[in-house]
Amino acid sequence: MIHSFLADLLDHPKVVETQQHMHHSISKHDHLARTARISYKLARLMRADIRICVRAAMIHDIDSRLGTLKTHGRIAATWAAAQGECDEVCHAIETHMYPFGPKPRTKEAWVVSLADKAASLTDLTVMVSGIMTGRTWQRRRQLKQSDPHFVVRQQLRHRRVARYR
Ligand SMILES: [Fe+2]
Ligand SMILES: [Fe+2]
Repeated sequence: MIHSFLADLLDHPKVVETQQHMHHSISKHDHLARTARISYKLARLMRADIRICVRAAMIHDIDSRLGTLKTHGRIAATWAAAQGECDEVCHAIETHMYPFGPKPRTKEAWVVSLADKAASLTDLTVMVSGIMTGRTWQRRRQLKQSDPHFVVRQQLRHRRVARYR
């Protein structure tokens, strides 16, 4: 059911590439998908528009590294608007970091903001429990090799070391 609201987004290269990005020591895609699943349940519970909630949830942290804690919602919302997402979806994305950033003004925006916090807590639990099994370190190593942010930093470090040899 949730898939029918997200099929086009899940195939979008910008969403697909989040599988390679690290976020809370897991892949950003896992965080977005978890937020979408929680948003789906919360939207039903709160009688909010499910489609708006799950689409906003699946986009809410796109390009988050380009902004700060307060501004990355606006960055993802701008991307969503350029893709043709409606104002309600963009508003829910922009306000997901409340109280760090603008306050949600719709039921759907509250759903996404709450779902993001619940998902982040679960991400943290997964990360901490994975420390015992070694899974967290393994996942971090994999993501550091695939995430362009870390790859570029690694290349710069190697270049600096080579220069001083
Ligand atoms: Fe965020
Ligand atoms: Fe998030």
